[in-house]
Amino acid sequence: MDSIEAPQVFSMPRIGDAAPKFKATTTQGEINFPEDYQGSWVILFSHPADFTPVCTTEFMSFAHLEDKFNKANCQLVGLSVDGLYSHIAWLRTIKEKIEFKGMKDLEVTFPLIEDIKMDVAKKYGMIQPNEDSTKAVRAVFVIDPKGIIRTIIYYPLSLGRNFDELYRVLIALQTADAFGVATPADWKPGDDVIVGPAGSCGTAKERMESEEMDCKDWFFCTKKLDKDLVLDTVLKD
Ligand code: BEZ
Repeated sequence: MDSIEAPQVFSMPRIGDAAPKFKATTTQGEINFPEDYQGSWVILFSHPADFTPVCTTEFMSFAHLEDKFNKANCQLVGLSVDGLYSHIAWLRTIKEKIEFKGMKDLEVTFPLIEDIKMDVAKKYGMIQPNEDSTKAVRAVFVIDPKGIIRTIIYYPLSLGRNFDELYRVLIALQTADAFGVATPADWKPGDDVIVGPAGSCGTAKERMESEEMDCKDWFFCTKKLDKDLVLDTVLKD
């Protein structure tokens, strides 16, 4: 029977850590990460390789939605273990030749990092050797305006990401920060939000009697949060 070799250990940043620093060459020039992005949310994502079909659909989806992410004060930064000229040629091909789900003629204007030596990919735990030792998996790091990693999502090579979910994650994180609440399963703007746990017996009692909240039990309280208020708070004009 084949056995899986013990994995090489690469460090992996965790939720709550400062985003590891790096300088890199990208299709939009040099970047100094995360310093250049202070004050913005960032989605830093890796993909396995240029000129591959699933990655192409993902880049087209991100390019199509870039403006929507930017309006939520979020910049996109991509990475793969390919060189700059490969990136440039692939992005040109996407614009000139590829149509997917009605999207076409799409220009990718966000930076795509060249990472031939895998320096950045290893720093961020994007190389998962039992999946592939020379290609990055589909990692997503959502980083806040202070450079703190707030969400990490990993997908394998064969599985294209869900862009509605990435956008939902961004808006949910911003809503949690702005209103001091948590967001339940499948939350979207306009849905009720979760009020943080009661810290004392007195608070627990007050909550059960509160008209502002709907408490199913002392630990499970929700309240309304207006959709327009959420969107006005997180979206720029
Ligand atoms: C793709 O993007 O199509 C792909 C890349 C690496 C492995 C499998 C699929």
